[in-house]
Amino acid sequence: MSKDTITITNNRNGKTYDFNILDASVGPSVVDISTFYKETGMFTYDEGYTSTASCKSEITYIDGGAGKLMYRGYDIAYMAKEKTFLDTAYLLVYGELPTKDELDNFALEMQKRSFVHEGVKKLFDAFPDRAHPMAILSAGVSALSTFYYNHLEVNTPQEYKEMANRIIAKIPTLAAFSYRYSNGLPIIYPDLNKGFTENFLNMLRAYPHEYVELKDIEIKALDTIFTLHADHEQNASTTAVRNLASTMAHPYAAISAGIGALWGRSHGGANESVIRQLEMIGTVDRVDEFIAKAKDKNDPFRLMGFGHRVYKNFDPRATILKEIRNELMGELGISSELVEVANKIEKIALSDEYFVSRGLYPNIDFYSGLILQALKIPKEMFAVIFVIGRTPGWIAQWSELHQQKTIKIARPRQLYVGPTERTPKS
Ligand code: SDX
Repeated sequence: MSKDTITITNNRNGKTYDFNILDASVGPSVVDISTFYKETGMFTYDEGYTSTASCKSEITYIDGGAGKLMYRGYDIAYMAKEKTFLDTAYLLVYGELPTKDELDNFALEMQKRSFVHEGVKKLFDAFPDRAHPMAILSAGVSALSTFYYNHLEVNTPQEYKEMANRIIAKIPTLAAFSYRYSNGLPIIYPDLNKGFTENFLNMLRAYPHEYVELKDIEIKALDTIFTLHADHEQNASTTAVRNLASTMAHPYAAISAGIGALWGRSHGGANESVIRQLEMIGTVDRVDEFIAKAKDKNDPFRLMGFGHRVYKNFDPRATILKEIRNELMGELGISSELVEVANKIEKIALSDEYFVSRGLYPNIDFYSGLILQALKIPKEMFAVIFVIGRTPGWIAQWSELHQQKTIKIARPRQLYVGPTERTPKS
């Protein structure tokens, strides 16, 4: 019996089995159960993968208990305060922070590649007014594969670079076009004189031949939001992306699937749900009624923006966003009843036994929605903002799996509880 194994005894037959312990560079070790079925004839069961590591990764580390998040070893507070989103995207995709020259070249690449094939616009014409931008964006990204069909095979470092830069650069343009089309507005093309985040805000807000003022504090706030959303270990949408990478599907299909998974209100759709929920509550005197609903086991109502599978303490991103929210609203002179409602919810929930005992703290979505609203970004675009931020992470995760020496297709098993064999009644 080695000290680097876990021994399991099956009390039904007295047999014991040893499984190897694999150690992380930081954080929990894992038990390698890849031979568990072969050795025991049984599957392991872990609905929602609460205790299951699906892969080895060098990209992002989270310590849920300590409220810690690192991108390739750099703490999220450092990245948010000292670096830009393009620094972050470069770090996630290429593994190291860029030098000044590398960052300048990357920024230039982003500008040059920000245009999409004119043919994509015909796809957008097919959508009805008010089509949700997430639906348009998911379709648009998948459609990119038909325009860049000679780039679907990604095998060499240059091909990875081309693919990564192309998708990161085009997603904001597709996102802005999605919003403009769904609201019947003229599309605004990328402006090669603007930086990544300023360009996106301009494509959202500008009108043909009309200059719109974009305040530095607005651009910095949105750039930081992108940075905070850039990657987050093996969350649901990243798991979707990696599943497609394991089938050797091309990155456009994988990112489109990631967008679909992120759209769910339990995941990236939560930021839009938070605002809708705050608007529904409306005033601080109604907060207690909804806190009671959130605690009622018989009521499906959940407090949007609260709780997290990993963080059982403050989400470090939420801490940073709360500071940005307060600074931005002060600078922009926005006082909002919604902020009062949000502050009251937070105050009650952080002292209420129901939330404290379950480790339910405000997560990234609890604050991002109010900031996006202060930036005059429409609610239906909140999850799209999440997509723009998360795309470098998805690409880094797709590439990491795709470059493994051996790639095992994702194919979990199940606990079958359906009917045993039966013959049709004559
Ligand atoms: C994101 O995974 C990631 O990293 C995601 C993300 C990323 O960057 O990719 O961080 C982004 O998705 C953040 C989460 C955004 N979602 C929301 O804010 C939606 C509201 N939150 C919940 O739906 C929930 O907290 C989840 C989905 C986020 C986490 O669910 P879990 O880990 O599966 O927890 P659970 O459902 O097992 O809940 C544990 C207990 C339950 O009560 P008991 O059965 O123990 O009595 O906590 C309760 C739940 O009922 N609970 C809530 C609650 N969240 C959990 N009760 C009220 N309101 C809530 N929000």
